[in-house]
Amino acid sequence: MKIRADKGLTFDDVLLVPRRSSLASRREADTSSWFTPGIRLYVPVVSANMDTVTETDMAIAMARAGGLGVIHRFMSIEQQAGQVRKVKRAEGLIVENPYSIEQDATIAEARKMMQTQDVGGLVVTNGGTELIGLITQRDVLLAPDDSAPVRTVMTLPDKIISARPHTTPEEARRILHEHRLEKLPVIDDNGQFVGLITAQDLIKHQKNPNATKDERGHLRVAAAVGVLPRDMPRAEALVEAGVDALVVDIAHGHADHCIAMIKRLRAAFPDTPLVAGNVASGEGARELAEAGADAIKVGIGPGSICTTRIVTGFGVPQLTAIMDSVAGLRQAGLDTPVIADGGIRTSGDLVKALAAGASTVMIGSLFAGCEEAPGAPVIRDGQKVKVVRGMASLGAAIGRKEREQDESAESQEDWDKVVPEGVEAVVPYRGHVREILYQLVGGLRSGMSYGGARTIRELQENAEFIQITPAGVRESSYHDVRKV
Ligand code: XMP
Repeated sequence: MKIRADKGLTFDDVLLVPRRSSLASRREADTSSWFTPGIRLYVPVVSANMDTVTETDMAIAMARAGGLGVIHRFMSIEQQAGQVRKVKRAEGLIVENPYSIEQDATIAEARKMMQTQDVGGLVVTNGGTELIGLITQRDVLLAPDDSAPVRTVMTLPDKIISARPHTTPEEARRILHEHRLEKLPVIDDNGQFVGLITAQDLIKHQKNPNATKDERGHLRVAAAVGVLPRDMPRAEALVEAGVDALVVDIAHGHADHCIAMIKRLRAAFPDTPLVAGNVASGEGARELAEAGADAIKVGIGPGSICTTRIVTGFGVPQLTAIMDSVAGLRQAGLDTPVIADGGIRTSGDLVKALAAGASTVMIGSLFAGCEEAPGAPVIRDGQKVKVVRGMASLGAAIGRKEREQDESAESQEDWDKVVPEGVEAVVPYRGHVREILYQLVGGLRSGMSYGGARTIRELQENAEFIQITPAGVRESSYHDVRKV
């Protein structure tokens, strides 16, 4: 038995000491950071893999705003892979399977298809991948004979302006403007039609220049998997669906079965970034990284809906957990990014977590009240609220049992014997997640300016924490006034 001489600290125990700053404006602060060594986020915030926080809508909104969503695993393999696919298809510079029509179809059919699919144009094919022509609203608008075939009004291949597969958004924009076009077919080196660039998609791209996208312009998304060998088909389906990172999700990540799962996944999917956790010690972080994890999720019990520390007596106050994990990795010569998971309530907490060495933070409850979180808002005591639940709560365990009954009798959890380590709660309805992220990033920029930091790395290098007393905590919030 041993007792550590130092104290375990969390966000409210400390403040950051202001440093001389050369930043004339908060805009000079670059908030970008790394989720994994290959995935850069302009907004270093990730939405939690909880069933009341991240499904398709949240993942799309997070990626559009410059963060990232991790889709939870408490649904069937098909549903989770389908959700990943939906995020990947939500945006892209090149529409890979645009709506097409055969050259002998009638103008009336083309018009109907454009209407029902809500698109301004169709690719005309001979039934295969060969591009025969292009037809847009303008071609059919005043066509005299609705029963005439599409080929009589379409733009012919020799008149079609096209692009190559690696065309950048800037090039596409120039070509479309120069020729006053709305659609640009993409043709590969073998003359095969591979997709369509549309003006609408370019406009979306311009609207969210800092969105988290892959090299093909699709939004990025991560998804969680469990640690058992039976979770491998899930991982395979997610990789097949185009997931950008797999997150090995287990409450106590510093465990043999988690390490074994990391090794299994690493061997099966060498090119897919792997995140693993949760841990709360330098040793835990180092061993998961050495097993093959590209980023480490840190946090045992800091979450708003967590009761792990009460039920088990285990946990490390979150600021110390972040510092210990980062130190454990760096001492072993590893540059692995740390994701600070849980307990973030304010932008001040975000700044402290990053200054302590985390590369990104994961947020649950603060996002559970958003429009994009699963579930509809309800009115409780006259206030609009949404539900959030710990993934180890009784409600979540019952939900899993109900789902597993549909799937396989063997994998059923005996929920009569469940010992919950989380609670169910309600949080105020908070509108769109983009607005919350705006406030968080605004606070982060301001914090970076107080820290004299232009980058997250400088924030970490310059960080000087000071421990405060309960009087300091009281002084730190508004006091001696009545809030209006
Ligand atoms: P916040 O504070 O952002 O924390 O809501 C989200 C994180 O909490 C963890 N989590 C749990 N921890 N029991 C726990 O001890 C639970 O039932 C539970 N559910 C979620 C998880 O790491 C999440 O990202």
